[in-house]
Amino acid sequence: MSLDNFLNKLSGLVQELEKDLNEAKSISGLEEVRVKFLSRKGRLAEVMKGLKSLSEQDKPVAGKKANEIKDKLLRLWQEKKAYFETKQKEEQLKTFDPTVPGRIPDFGTLHPITLVIEEISDIFTSLGFDVVQGPEVETDFYNFEALNIPPEHPARDMQDTLYITENILLRTHTSPLQIRTMLSRKPPVAAIAPGKVYRRDSDLTHSPMFHQIEGFLVDKNVTMAELRGTLTLFLHQVFGKETKVRFRPSFFPFTEPSAEVDISCVLCKGKGQINGVPCRVCKETGWVEILGCGMIDPAVFHMVGYDPEEFSGFAFGLGVERVAMLKYGIGDLRIFFDNDLRFLEQFKG
Ligand code: PHE
Repeated sequence: MSLDNFLNKLSGLVQELEKDLNEAKSISGLEEVRVKFLSRKGRLAEVMKGLKSLSEQDKPVAGKKANEIKDKLLRLWQEKKAYFETKQKEEQLKTFDPTVPGRIPDFGTLHPITLVIEEISDIFTSLGFDVVQGPEVETDFYNFEALNIPPEHPARDMQDTLYITENILLRTHTSPLQIRTMLSRKPPVAAIAPGKVYRRDSDLTHSPMFHQIEGFLVDKNVTMAELRGTLTLFLHQVFGKETKVRFRPSFFPFTEPSAEVDISCVLCKGKGQINGVPCRVCKETGWVEILGCGMIDPAVFHMVGYDPEEFSGFAFGLGVERVAMLKYGIGDLRIFFDNDLRFLEQFKG
């Protein structure tokens, strides 16, 4: 082959490529063009085979020209590709409307029970209490015996217990956390223990699973006055300063003396009636019971190895659902466990 012939074939490739590029309709069509001209078995490679048959003198000239053509083919092809890419972006921009409002992600909400537990935990941690937790599947020892409730004690009838075996049960209250915490720490101790508890009970105002928050404080010289002060401050923070708080004598095997605490009714503001109609929340009494409490019984201190001569302490337990119902004005306990989004979404922060 003569040099002229070879060079003609090379420059012919440029025209051929330009023709194909003009005919290409899209980026995918371009890929075919690239394979046809620039791949290892493409048109350029084919022409290059002719290089071998040239004279030694012509080869350098031909090789240099071949490289130039190769660069040119590649550049033409890349220019066309860039052209298609720009066009594609412009098309996309045409259909993009910057005035369309963005999508607002649908956030979940904290359950009202969680909200109340968090609010109460915040109040007590700001007073220096720790938050502790323990198992929902408990032994008889922590749930009853160590709390001064021996096997034949009538107080076991107060709570309908769900047993797993004779000795293992679902905790009926959060009071086992008093024992677990005192056994693992030396006084002074101040902690609250929120969590689920279980009883064989189910109606309008009782659920077989509900939540309690236990609280307790042990130190030297702790008296009923500290108990009253702490609980009054706490209840004022949750229900408002105008809320009245009263302590009524009561009985729990693990506290002595014991008390139940009432607050003035949040619905009728303690009046017992609203516009002459009996208040459904307090049943006309003007008061609602909110928690049980007392001074920790010396028998409990003996169980955990604290000296009742040296230390004293108070404990209390409250029902979280009850607090939530009063706080949010909810009449039916079961609504907490229905998982109805229309209800839950009202608690968006
Ligand atoms: N554990 C008791 C209950 O479930 C409440 C309580 C706790 C009372 C601590 C006194 C002290 O009813």
